[in-house]
Amino acid sequence: MRKKILSGMRPTGKLHLGHLVGTLDNWVGLQEEYDCFFMVADWHALMSEYENPAQMGDTIIDNVADWLACGISPQKASLFIQSQVPSHLELYMFLSLLTPLGWLERCPTYKEQLREIKNRDLKTYAFLGYPVLQAADILLYKSDIVPVGEDQLPHLELTREIARKFNSIYKKKTFPEPQALLDKVSRLRGLDGRKMSKSYSNYINISEEPDEIRKKIKDMFTDPARIKLNDPGHPDKCNVHSYYAVFAPQRAPQIDQLCRKAQIGCTQCKKELAEILIAHLAPVQKKRKALLQDKGYIRDVLHQGKEKASAVAQETIVSVRKLLQVHYEL
Ligand code: TRP
Ligand code: SF4
Repeated sequence: MRKKILSGMRPTGKLHLGHLVGTLDNWVGLQEEYDCFFMVADWHALMSEYENPAQMGDTIIDNVADWLACGISPQKASLFIQSQVPSHLELYMFLSLLTPLGWLERCPTYKEQLREIKNRDLKTYAFLGYPVLQAADILLYKSDIVPVGEDQLPHLELTREIARKFNSIYKKKTFPEPQALLDKVSRLRGLDGRKMSKSYSNYINISEEPDEIRKKIKDMFTDPARIKLNDPGHPDKCNVHSYYAVFAPQRAPQIDQLCRKAQIGCTQCKKELAEILIAHLAPVQKKRKALLQDKGYIRDVLHQGKEKASAVAQETIVSVRKLLQVHYEL
């Protein structure tokens, strides 16, 4: 039996290069070796976007178009929408029964988000339970491995604790303790050098138009010590060079040399990078466009994914109901 993987992404907006090289490229590789479930985490998105859900349907279709265009294959993996498999909420309830409040209140991501996100009211009952629903997502499929970004490690730790507690109370090894698999380290920083994020407006979308890409790259900061063209540069301190390392690894060492010897100017260096990115995204954008012209295919994929996910989920729910004496009929 192949090991199982579940991962999810919240549909909070268009996907950018960070998602592409951090997450999606990773998923594309994993689908070859594992039984993969890739989920649109719309309940998790709603926990912060509940006041403004208007765009969610479009965002989901747009995100899944990106997944498919980047090479996620519905023949290899199950793609589905969390809210279309009601068992997630059912297991969430079962796990909530035994999750101590203190575990959630102490969770570092929870405390950080309350501190940092000021434009939304996150002091809700649901938001406190965010990691419990995530644990339900993972345990519902008895997932062995969970590919995530570093920021999600506390949630994986909580998931393991919840699994352990469940197994110990009901004296049966119902859930395996899932392992985190960190997204690729070559994590791309944002255009301004900070973490690439929607809230900093420092990203390039997977669907970004070529002219927009040229403009955004042109405005990137370079080595601050390089003022004149014949000042030698420090590519190791230049974010532009880190983009070369990710998107043109063969060209990166040459750029490194040219920069150090002041044989290439920053304007030219960025122009070349913009064209590299445009060429890199061209086939993805072409596929994306075709997919979005007939959304029926995307809907079919999500429907099939839902069916496959539901079958696995239902088995887990039946066994959990039995353990807790929760009957379909009495
Ligand atoms: N919390 C994750 C994030 O914000 C999304 C997510 C929801 C998830 N459920 C999951 C990731 C289950 C991995 C497994 O990125
Ligand atoms: Fe950065 Fe390129 Fe300028 Fe060197 S030449 S500092 S790598 S933008």
